[in-house]
Amino acid sequence: MEYLIFKDERIPLIGFGSYRFTDSDTDALIYGIGKCGMSLIDTAEMYGDGSSEEALGKVVSAVDRKSLFIVDKILPGNAKKGLYLESCKRSLERLKTDYIDLYLLHWRGDTDLADMVYNMESLVSAGLIRHWGVSNFDTCDMEELFMVEGGSDCFCDQILYNLASRGAEYDLIPWLKEHGVMPMAYSPLCNSSKARVKVTSDEIVKEIAGKEMKTPESLMLSFIVRNRDIVTVFKTSSADHVEGNMRNVFEAVPAEDLKALEQRFPAPCSKCPLEKI
Ligand SMILES: NC(=O)c1ccc[n+]([C@@H]2O[C@H](COP(=O)([O-])OP(=O)(O)OC[C@H]3O[C@@H](n4cnc5c(N)ncnc54)[C@H](OP(=O)(O)O)[C@@H]3O)[C@@H](O)[C@H]2O)c1
Repeated sequence: MEYLIFKDERIPLIGFGSYRFTDSDTDALIYGIGKCGMSLIDTAEMYGDGSSEEALGKVVSAVDRKSLFIVDKILPGNAKKGLYLESCKRSLERLKTDYIDLYLLHWRGDTDLADMVYNMESLVSAGLIRHWGVSNFDTCDMEELFMVEGGSDCFCDQILYNLASRGAEYDLIPWLKEHGVMPMAYSPLCNSSKARVKVTSDEIVKEIAGKEMKTPESLMLSFIVRNRDIVTVFKTSSADHVEGNMRNVFEAVPAEDLKALEQRFPAPCSKCPLEKI
């Protein structure tokens, strides 16, 4: 594994997602942690209405907690005064841990940003979370967040970003980097969408992956971490897929291959609203 050193934290560049994570995905996660160093785990109270956190908790309690970096997300409807503390405590209980490393507002919704920041900071002060951040915030949302007292302490914005969805490269990712907010890419393998098939069956992708002894999936991940400045999380139910996805993933993509990929899957040359799932 390679790491991003960010605000004194050593964060694995590639972590394990848990959308639809169940007990049957445990072997894949244990393989990812044990063999590939995927010690960053991403979850949300929304996933399976808490059941993903619960299934993850069985793994969390069986490994050295300090070796993990757990990212969790609170629903906008729960991130408010009177609700956030209980919500966080429920997640901690399901995850079988007494702290979350990074707690994100799952999406903006109708959140009162000042209230949310205050609540997040209260959780940091109480030792229940170590850092807080947001998810699915576009540039204009980040600008508004930074206007709020304490808003610039936001650690991370978790966003949709992959080879087939590169809109965030236009202004959001540069903005985040300039303002000291860590970008974290979700759905790096295009989820289970048609785009996934389009990318993985693309002749240029297959040719480059083959030449570099990667799989199409590891090439997609290599593309995201190419500058070692974006963290990403993928999900799989299969230990074999973890192995294939991580194969040679940190081997640099040669400039001519990168150029060919960029031409095949170009970044937009004007602002597009941030895509979301
Ligand atoms: N903040 C947000 O709003 C948000 C939104 C979406 C996701 N997320 C987070 O990001 C994580 C990752 O995103 P995601 O789950 O949407 O999508 P993803 O990781 O891009 O793709 C997951 C899909 O790819 C398949 N896959 C993975 N490796 C494969 C391989 N080698 N061969 C064939 N299929 C493969 C998986 O199926 P198999 O199980 O068959 O491998 C699964 O269907 C989520 O789990 C979640 O933690 C956050």
